[in-house]
Amino acid sequence: MAVSSEKSGLDKLVEQLRELKAKAYQGGGEERIKAQHQKGKLTARERLALLFDEGSFNEVMTFATTKATEFGLDKNRVYGDGVVTGWGKVEGRTVFAYAQDFTSIGGTLGETHAAKIGKVYELALKVGAPVVGINDSGGARIQEGAVALEGYGLVFKYNVWASGVIPQITIMAGPAAGGAVYSPALTDFIIMIKGDAYYMFVTGPEITKVVLGEEVTFQDLGGAVVHATKSGVVHFLAESEQEALQITKRLLSYLPSNNMEEPPYMDTGDPADRDVSGIEQVMPTDSAKPFDMKEIIYRIVDNGEFLEVHKHWAQNIVVGFARIAGNVVGIVANNSNVLGGSIDVDAADKAARFIRFCDAFNIPLISIVDTPGYVPGTEQEYKGIIRHGAKMLYAFAEATVPKVTVIVRKSYGGAHIAMSIKSLGADLVYAWPTAEIAVTGPEGAVRILYRREIQNSSNPDEFIKQKIEEYKRLFANPYWAAEKGIIDDVIEPKDTRRVIVNALSMLKNKREYRPPKKHGNIPL
Ligand code: HXC
Repeated sequence: MAVSSEKSGLDKLVEQLRELKAKAYQGGGEERIKAQHQKGKLTARERLALLFDEGSFNEVMTFATTKATEFGLDKNRVYGDGVVTGWGKVEGRTVFAYAQDFTSIGGTLGETHAAKIGKVYELALKVGAPVVGINDSGGARIQEGAVALEGYGLVFKYNVWASGVIPQITIMAGPAAGGAVYSPALTDFIIMIKGDAYYMFVTGPEITKVVLGEEVTFQDLGGAVVHATKSGVVHFLAESEQEALQITKRLLSYLPSNNMEEPPYMDTGDPADRDVSGIEQVMPTDSAKPFDMKEIIYRIVDNGEFLEVHKHWAQNIVVGFARIAGNVVGIVANNSNVLGGSIDVDAADKAARFIRFCDAFNIPLISIVDTPGYVPGTEQEYKGIIRHGAKMLYAFAEATVPKVTVIVRKSYGGAHIAMSIKSLGADLVYAWPTAEIAVTGPEGAVRILYRREIQNSSNPDEFIKQKIEEYKRLFANPYWAAEKGIIDDVIEPKDTRRVIVNALSMLKNKREYRPPKKHGNIPL
């Protein structure tokens, strides 16, 4: 009998535990969950359920709550303190996550909330697994004063410590105002959902109006479209919350769990030696005509699958992840459809950031080149094309992962170097027979080289035309550069995939070391 009464005692405790957990799982309660759904948003737990393999999520610090007493917070404590934290499996691999719960004290960040995110980071760093943050918050919890700001400091510190060690992905699934935008900005990738309920800015429309007299809507100031197309803050634009979580999973499938691992190999079924005949037809025979470089990428990579990063921003350069013969690669390519494929400040920032991510996480880099140079003019010079352009040079020269370059058409001047050449550290540089490699384009070169002759010529136009033809004969082909050993081979376009596969296979065990240092100083 004693046993059964003991059992019933335990049963009671378990029942109590279940009640408490049910309360914790309720977040801010039914009304607020309803309000969340009415805004078209999912709750933190619904989001986590979509992210993780079914039943695999393990919550930590479920019952943690605020220690603050000011403004009646002690009378209104909620389990979880406005954030759900833990780990689980995403397609079988361990991933840590925190999801801010807007239904619970507005998902605001106070001391305990921050400590919970810190806990996730500590564990993720110890075991070497990615962190996904789902942000939906009113920002710093006003009642907790400067302690809340300390909380942000803690999160930022972990973001930075984890940078280059474990991949960090943020989903913007609600508001983010003020300093709250900076944790996302410190992570590797931001995925943002389109719609009125989602925005991020340092200073909101009200203050913008008071300070600048400028009237702007929440969306025009900090909506997903603005950040994906204009500011470059957002890497992936999602049509819905469900899509944001799908993008997260797809992105994770290309990434190693940490900087000590290789990215995950996958048997894609696409033959390594597949001939890509017809690929050259994507490119117009007239080298002045633009084309969509992505059509070239799709034909080279496994099954045409390419996860483009920053798809809507700085479209003159294309960056993203793909697999070639099952191995993950990072692709950096110029797109002549936008600004003729020239490199401006945004394109340089976009490429440099991507290159550094790939290098940190052991992802080989493939450059596909068709660029006439850096963008000229006062606008770009005033914006600091010197400073920004230098980032690409820095990033490629710094990278120790395998680096393979294929020049398909133009490769001129500083941009030729910035797309990864031999002397900068590229392992192998190939060119199609259509490649043009020189210090500057024919027109500009002739005007500089023959300035005096042009002035003295009785027929300057004819003289220029003739000299341009001469210049093109010399440089508008890959052979002059090949004779100088600047490129390793001229290849038939149909062999491009096979050539890259062989290069990457040879480079698989590449080891390259740099002089020891605390860290470099990339021109920011
Ligand atoms: C405390 C907050 C809060 C905050 C929202 N709430 N923001 N509580 N501190 N910062 C509470 C609300 O009182 C409300 O509680 C609940 O969260 C939901 O908020 P609502 O206003 O009802 O929701 P909504 O109408 O959707 O508006 C969302 C919002 C608005 C636009 C985010 O709440 C807002 O403007 N909040 C303030 C944003 C802000 O200024 N944050 C500080 C930014 S500076 P009840 O109990 O009624 O449900 C910052 C510094 C970080 O974050 C520094 C890092 C360096």
